[in-house]
Amino acid sequence: MRNYIPIILQFLIIYPSTVSSNLCSYCECDSLSNTILCSRPSLLIRTVSMLPNIQQLHLNNIILPQPPHFLFHSNLRVLRMSKCQMVEVPTSSFLALPGLEIIDLSNNQIETLPPTLLRSLKNLRVLILSNNKISNLASLEWILAPGVVLEQLDLSGNPIAISMPHTIFPPVRQIFMSSTRIESINSSFIVFKAQDDKCEKLQCRSLKIENLDTSIIKTLDFSDNHGVQIDISFLNIFENVTYLDISDSRLPSEFEDWLENKSRVRSLNISNCEIKLREEDTWTSCGQHLHSIDISKNNLKHLKLDRFCGIRSIFARDNLLSSLFIESTSVESIHLNRNMFSEFPTVPPGTSLENLHTLSLSHNLLTNLPKDAFFGYPALQHFDSSHNQISEIDANAFPSIGMDLISLDLSSNQLSLLPHPILPSLLLLDLSSNNIATLDPHFFTGLPMLQQLRLSSNPPLFSRCPTSKSPCWSDHLDELTSLIDLDISNSGLEFSLHLRHLRTLRSLLLRGNDIITIDANSLPDGLRTLDLGENRIQYTSNFSKLEKLRDLRVDQNPLRCDCSLYEIVPHLLNQSQVEDPTLYYCFSGSWQYPLYPYLVSVRPCVNTMKNFYSILITTFIISIIIVFSLVLGFLVYKKYVDHSHFIYKRISLTETAVRL
Ligand SMILES: *[C@@H]1O[C@H](CO)[C@@H](O)[C@H](O)[C@H]1NC(C)=O
Ligand SMILES: *[C@@H]1O[C@H](CO)[C@@H](O)[C@H](O)[C@H]1NC(C)=O
Ligand SMILES: *[C@@H]1O[C@H](CO)[C@@H](O)[C@H](O)[C@H]1NC(C)=O
Ligand SMILES: *[C@@H]1O[C@H](CO)[C@@H](O)[C@H](O)[C@H]1NC(C)=O
Ligand SMILES: *[C@@H]1O[C@H](CO)[C@@H](O)[C@H](O)[C@H]1NC(C)=O
Ligand SMILES: *[C@@H]1O[C@H](CO)[C@@H](O)[C@H](O)[C@H]1NC(C)=O
Repeated sequence: MRNYIPIILQFLIIYPSTVSSNLCSYCECDSLSNTILCSRPSLLIRTVSMLPNIQQLHLNNIILPQPPHFLFHSNLRVLRMSKCQMVEVPTSSFLALPGLEIIDLSNNQIETLPPTLLRSLKNLRVLILSNNKISNLASLEWILAPGVVLEQLDLSGNPIAISMPHTIFPPVRQIFMSSTRIESINSSFIVFKAQDDKCEKLQCRSLKIENLDTSIIKTLDFSDNHGVQIDISFLNIFENVTYLDISDSRLPSEFEDWLENKSRVRSLNISNCEIKLREEDTWTSCGQHLHSIDISKNNLKHLKLDRFCGIRSIFARDNLLSSLFIESTSVESIHLNRNMFSEFPTVPPGTSLENLHTLSLSHNLLTNLPKDAFFGYPALQHFDSSHNQISEIDANAFPSIGMDLISLDLSSNQLSLLPHPILPSLLLLDLSSNNIATLDPHFFTGLPMLQQLRLSSNPPLFSRCPTSKSPCWSDHLDELTSLIDLDISNSGLEFSLHLRHLRTLRSLLLRGNDIITIDANSLPDGLRTLDLGENRIQYTSNFSKLEKLRDLRVDQNPLRCDCSLYEIVPHLLNQSQVEDPTLYYCFSGSWQYPLYPYLVSVRPCVNTMKNFYSILITTFIISIIIVFSLVLGFLVYKKYVDHSHFIYKRISLTETAVRL
């Protein structure tokens, strides 16, 4: 997506002394969205000049006590300077950028903004000032150009302590004031908590509601103002807001009536609130326009929503819920994590939650998944029942046809046996941290699309197939022709699994087993990530064939300091932990050495036995050749001597007279 193309004419950077250089060599430039993104703390930016087409500039995580000097650029719409340790924004900072629509100065140390800073910005829509040190609301009064109405003003995380009776709040449709020290809210005032060194009197820490343009406000976030008291009169004024987050507050007793009969809210967050309900411990309310509600952390024991409720998302985490009665068929997701369900929640008779795609029941007290558990949830795609005490899944818990489950999380339960459901769309199956001893031979047949399989931390997983020779459930893994990630960590595996045929596999985690030797020939060629840490591996072999491997971990193994390591060197030198001698070491004799220095000098293996034979053979051949040539040479010599060096010699025919 990101094209690194030279967009910038000049960009003055002091790095370390003043240089004029191309911005894109220090930052990321994206020509599609005309965006420049800089986030290198070492950059020191003085003056910024951009090509005319640039529309967004993000200077995050750069030390900028003040904004840099911008040269005139009317096309810049978005300017973000977050986490820049900025303490001050001089009056003229944005004069050269008249087209700005979004300014993000979050996570700095700004205490105040000069009154005319934003006066020239006629298109400003979003001003994000969250997590600064703004304490006086008066500093935001009249800050906008005349006629400008902000879409969004974010003041979250500022320690607001001062607001005068005449302080006018800028006109804005979405107000974010979470964690701003609000003490109480009613139809007349938003009162901030008193602070010792600031004005403690009520009238200098109260924002008058009439100084707020309430008719245009659509979003209110007053969350995280611990225990703020919210009066019903305030809610009545804001009956038309569509998004309301007042989590962590104390709600009036009329709240449920307000929600049902008055409010037009679509998204409501009242998690961790103090509230007196009509039916004790039971949530029953639903607004006419409500799409999403968060009623987490409210000590609820029951949840009932009738079929007239048009809700889509329900977040009811961290309650004491043990029963559910939901007839509202519009609901799409239900999050019931950390409750007290000991029985699988079923739908009321005659109901079918045909739009429900996500059901989360993690951290409850379930002990089984009963027959026809998913009967009322025909469209379920994501089911999470991790961290329960499930020891049994009925063979007919999952319907035999028509289940479109995409992810199934059964991790951290007490399962030892599993049925073999048919889940033709399942992509993710998490069975980690159970007690599974084996998987049915047909188990993988029913999961043709599976891409991620997590089986880690099942101690008895290989107890029935202790060696690579014994028949094992893992022999059927090759039926998973789409598998991408496989995690079999911490499961007592002692041998190297034969996974060569899993062509699509990219990530294999085998950490914390008892594997002694690993032959890369048994692994698929396309593997990118391989974690063999905390095993008993002494030797690795054939690793040079894993050309795609990018992340190899073999920490905490009793590796031999041996030439067999040569093949894993390129993979390991890339590993940031490899220099840590407590993680990466090798043994020579009984001595333990840090691995890193060894890797740097290791040489490829030469097979000594093979060498011996070849030397023997060569010697033999050479000797034969020598002997042969000697013999030949001798013969040739003889011949030569016989013929070419034949010199007639006179034979003395005159014999010495024999004395008779
Ligand atoms: C709102 O709160 C202020 C300060 O706590 C109080 O003086 C005022 O009477 C309250 N107004 C209403 C309408 O409750
Ligand atoms: C809410 O909207 C309705 C209909 O648009 C309008 O009649 C009512 O006055 C509004 N309420 C407030 C408090 O602005
Ligand atoms: C809210 O509406 C319900 C039914 O529509 C009604 O029974 C109840 O009295 C109303 N509450 C208030 C306070 O108007
Ligand atoms: C509701 O507010 C709480 C606390 O601020 C937050 O953690 C939670 O994510 C919010 N819920 C939703 C659905 O955004
Ligand atoms: C490496 O692969 C070859 C060929 O498949 C195999 O014969 C050999 O045993 C492997 N090396 C080791 C040390 O296992
Ligand atoms: C080493 O890491 C870099 C960057 O993370 C990566 O591009 C490279 O391919 C890696 N090389 C090996 C051999 O894993």
